[in-house]
Amino acid sequence: MRLQNKTVMITGGASGIGLATVRLFLKEGAQVAFVDRNEERGKALEKELQETYHHVRFYRLDVTNRDQVDHVVQAIVQDFGGIDVLINNAGITKDNMFKKMPFEAFQQVMDVNVSGVFHCAQAVLSHLLDKGKGKIINTSSITGIGGNIGQSNYAASKAAVIGLTKTWAKEFGKKGINVNAVAPGFIETEMTETIPDNVKMQMSMITSSPRFGQAIDVANAYLFLASDESAFINGHVLSVDGGMMK
Ligand code: NAI
Repeated sequence: MRLQNKTVMITGGASGIGLATVRLFLKEGAQVAFVDRNEERGKALEKELQETYHHVRFYRLDVTNRDQVDHVVQAIVQDFGGIDVLINNAGITKDNMFKKMPFEAFQQVMDVNVSGVFHCAQAVLSHLLDKGKGKIINTSSITGIGGNIGQSNYAASKAAVIGLTKTWAKEFGKKGINVNAVAPGFIETEMTETIPDNVKMQMSMITSSPRFGQAIDVANAYLFLASDESAFINGHVLSVDGGMMK
């Protein structure tokens, strides 16, 4: 019960890493508010989870829409009495070689992966500052550290997330707020389902681990960064990549 009495807001909680995090955090005693733009899936999951847990609620939210973000954060604070931890997990890819990448694909990825993180953090921040305590955990990627062919937009967005993380740690650390990020490697979720087998094989060859990453591997890293055990860690980017040679 490492998250007892903590209210956690998780974005992109209806699938993959976000969903594994919702399930893990509930087991660890957290009150969980999960948000996603996929309402159908979110509602079905809420129903399933509420059969076992009382303190879990789904809110439909597109993180790129600031009005919606402000409204949902307000609703969560009202329903749960506050927010202690924000996990900025929602993210998308729209891969293409740079020569052929439409600007819309760049913009859409930046909107969700960077502006979405900006909006959610800014909306939650005042509630954390009021308490003088809290955590923001952002989701970068190994691609944001090392770049990746066909992922200019995604790499730029995930590098930006590192910049935001380190800056917010400096701006709010003395006020009791920890801001850290995870940088997952290749994790088997819907996002990576369509990656061709030969590319997966190349990834496994540069990974010093006998298996691919699973959503729970990242959820466990989020758990550490959300718990009191990481109280003296701030502005850090934790790789969860099975030891990838970058
Ligand atoms: P996923 O595609 O399984 O889940 C992403 C969730 O975010 C979905 O439920 C989707 O509906 C939601 N979402 C997308 N846009 C949204 C928006 N505008 N507003 C609200 N919700 C939105 O992806 P996965 O793999 O679970 O990824 C989670 C995070 O981890 C993302 O930030 C991703 O970039 C990052 N990541 C994933 C890696 C992987 O190999 N799967 C590697 C590195 C980072």
